[in-house]
Amino acid sequence: MASKSTPSTSSRPNFTGVNAAFKDKGKPMELRLSNMVAAKAISDAVRTSLGPRGMDKMIQTSKGEVIVTNDGATILKSIQALHPAAKMLVDLSAAQDVEAGDGTTSVVVLAGSLLGAAEKMLEKGIHPTIVAESFLRASAKAVEYLEEISTPVDLNDRGSLLRAASTSLNSKIVSQYSSTLAPIAVDAVSRLVTPTSSNVDLRDVRIVKKVGGTIEDTELVEGVVLNQTCVAAAGGPTRMEKAKIAIIQFQLSAPKPDMDNTVVINDYRQMDKVIKEGRQYLLNLCKKIKKANCNVLLIQKSILRDAVDEIALNFLKRLNIVVVKDVERDEINFLSKNVKINDVKVVRITGIKNRGRTVSILAMGSNSLVVEETERSLHDALCVVRCLVKKRALIGGGGAPEIHVSRLLSQHAQSLKGMEAYCFQAYADALELRNRHALGERNAGINVRKGLISNILEEEVVQPLLVTTSAIELATETVCLLLKIDDYVQAR
Ligand SMILES: Nc1ncnc2c1ncn2[C@@H]1O[C@H](COP(=O)(O)OP(=O)(O)OP(=O)(O)O)[C@@H](O)[C@H]1O
Ligand SMILES: [Mg+2]
Repeated sequence: MASKSTPSTSSRPNFTGVNAAFKDKGKPMELRLSNMVAAKAISDAVRTSLGPRGMDKMIQTSKGEVIVTNDGATILKSIQALHPAAKMLVDLSAAQDVEAGDGTTSVVVLAGSLLGAAEKMLEKGIHPTIVAESFLRASAKAVEYLEEISTPVDLNDRGSLLRAASTSLNSKIVSQYSSTLAPIAVDAVSRLVTPTSSNVDLRDVRIVKKVGGTIEDTELVEGVVLNQTCVAAAGGPTRMEKAKIAIIQFQLSAPKPDMDNTVVINDYRQMDKVIKEGRQYLLNLCKKIKKANCNVLLIQKSILRDAVDEIALNFLKRLNIVVVKDVERDEINFLSKNVKINDVKVVRITGIKNRGRTVSILAMGSNSLVVEETERSLHDALCVVRCLVKKRALIGGGGAPEIHVSRLLSQHAQSLKGMEAYCFQAYADALELRNRHALGERNAGINVRKGLISNILEEEVVQPLLVTTSAIELATETVCLLLKIDDYVQAR
């Protein structure tokens, strides 16, 4: 038997022998509870960030950088979770980020709440497998109930898309700018979709961050924005109309040998020759570029040698070519999707003929903390619109759907028998608990019995169905996974 240890610190009787783990009947339960405590701790850490009344977190990274954010996925990514069960919750949030992009706090809070419910069931002596199976069935039912109350959306219905995008921005630090940011997110995605598309690749939306101005200066650029500035060291042009752009992945500088070798020149005529050859080499390259009718040159960043040296810059100036260097490798991919001009020290390429389906967003803000958070918030809003492309249905926000599902599940529980009924009821309570805990005062006014759910729709708080269903499914899956674990083996 491999050596085993539990992450729990509590002392338990020390069994020795081959089948020690099997004799120790208390161990699986103890491990399960220890996992639950660790996972719930993670959930508690982000719970206060949920909703428009949620608080923000200040994170100091190991490099000493400071991040201020409300985004669940970002907070959890920075938490150095050591406990394996805690790590599962961090992964859960990341999974929601991939699937839906929003709801990364909700999913973890929900998992925490479900874990609490599961714990109660275990205390009642119900077997973990039964709890897990019942929870999975309850989650399928919950998704069904949500689909029933969802309303279909048309991608041409800009109003609905805008409402959903601004709901996702409600809970962010930059929420007062949602009237600027929501339309940007909606327009960016709208430009990428066709009436038949069932998904959007958000890599085609490039967010370029720039410190300066305010968040209100954030704009959608028809074309491409590059963070790099034009190289004007040799006095070359910085603006070009009717641009013909070339992207090159080689360098315009004297080549370097692969190996360290020494060339000894002891004659100044030879010296002259070497310099001349170098110039000729560069001149040939520059002439070829000019011959291709190019007048704007984007050069990929190089770490081995200078992307472009002074001599080449001089030639390019004389040939009247705009030079932008240090373009990152991943930007090259984005740029080459466009058939291929300048401002606040960024390069703008606009008015592109036959452009591919890509857009750029120039995110501005007074300092880097704000710009970074603006980017993350835009990401959420973009994801929300993408969710609506994937699954064209909306539901209300503000806890209304959770209460609805909770109520129906608890009704359904009454039609069930035995332990499953208990588990369904516990699952139903967990959904409600989540709402009561998390959204606090703001939604205390939502009273299902008085039928005030419509309020939330009048308040224009709507969210994509996919965000909530994915949160419910993923959270339940993780909880069930945790429930079924009965031993912990550390592999070395
Ligand atoms: N104006 C509002 N009134 C009531 N509830 C709201 C309002 N706007 C948003 N909400 C609710 O806030 C919750 C979302 O909060 P938040 O955005 O902080 O968390 P998240 O979406 O789970 O995580 P993240 O955005 O960090 O990925 C949703 O349940 C949403 O319905
Ligand atoms: Mg959100």
